[in-house]
Amino acid sequence: PDVNNLTNLYDFEFLASQILTKQAWSYYSSAADDEVTQRENHAAYHRIFFKPRILVNVKEVDTSTTMLGEKVGVPFYVSATALCKLGNPQEGEKDIARGCGESDAKPVQMISTLASCSLQEIVEAAPSKEQIQWFQLYVNSDRKITDDLVKNAEKLGLKAIFVTVDAPSLGNREKDAKVKFTNSNGAKAMEKSNVDESKGASRALSSFIDPALNWDDIVELKTKTKLPIVIKGVQCVEDVLKAAEVGAAGVVLSNHGGRQLDFSRAPIEVLAETMPALREKKLDDKLEVFIDGGVRRGTDILKALCLGAKGVGLGRPFLYSNSCYGKEGVKKAIELLKDELEMSMRLLGVTSIDQLSEKYLDLSTIHGR
Ligand code: FNR
Repeated sequence: PDVNNLTNLYDFEFLASQILTKQAWSYYSSAADDEVTQRENHAAYHRIFFKPRILVNVKEVDTSTTMLGEKVGVPFYVSATALCKLGNPQEGEKDIARGCGESDAKPVQMISTLASCSLQEIVEAAPSKEQIQWFQLYVNSDRKITDDLVKNAEKLGLKAIFVTVDAPSLGNREKDAKVKFTNSNGAKAMEKSNVDESKGASRALSSFIDPALNWDDIVELKTKTKLPIVIKGVQCVEDVLKAAEVGAAGVVLSNHGGRQLDFSRAPIEVLAETMPALREKKLDDKLEVFIDGGVRRGTDILKALCLGAKGVGLGRPFLYSNSCYGKEGVKKAIELLKDELEMSMRLLGVTSIDQLSEKYLDLSTIHGR
């Protein structure tokens, strides 16, 4: 179908399930074990209800905000996903850069260590000077490789390092494991390393990640770069507070889209517990809290913002839109999400992101509150 006939992000997912290769669909859609967390990430949003306010002048609404000190057009961003060439063999992550940069909203693009294109190619493909890109870091057992990745990201003008900590070992993704992986569309930065190609894309990639990674490494990483460091994959309040203690600029409450430990909790509920704890310790100004997993609607984004998130990430929806239509699909997905967000803000009775707060939610149905 014409990309303009798609009405929401689920349409991209359905289309992707019909047209992607078995390998791409298995790798993108899979989650760990029984995929309970993947479903729960999304389902948890369905338990949260609004308390809209009426008779507010909502003629003009403004979706812009800031993330890590930079102005951005929308409070959502494209989260890092490996191997975009599995679904878009020609352009991979470059089309995500183009889609973000050509859209009015210009969401931030977080680029994976395991991208199919080189970081330089993706940066050069970005058409707008205003668009922001972040680097997602997997720490390699060989710290020299990690140091070089960080230096390269800094040199190429990326604005932050998101270090992923929820994958000391890759989760058990059975759909993916059933398909043999071939490295022809593999991770560019890891091209020269040996990979085991016999057990799916996830297994092949897992060999690059250091299972010995710990808090001391975060402290060490801070000495290596001037860029803000955000810890991605935080799953409880205690670790959020610890991240603040070691001087992280932010955290991403995330369980990797349900791809790691099945029965990890939905990030939106962890968020509901996190912000009161940060406020109590007066750390809510020191640490920016991001969230991802299961976000598919403008209303999901609004709920996370009401609970205190600074930015909301989406993974699979952009893989699917990029795979089905390349940059035009990415642009359309951004547009749909921004339209949903604007309409929901009007119906909630707010005109800017900074007005959002818990007072717009019925907190009684949120676990942990
Ligand atoms: C991911 N994610 C991920 N995260 C990361 O830090 N580095 C990576 O290389 C990848 N790769 C990756 C591949 C695929 C196919 C998926 C689906 C996800 C996790 C991603 O950044 C994000 O946390 C989740 O995708 C969010 O959940 P949703 O939006 O997909 O439900």
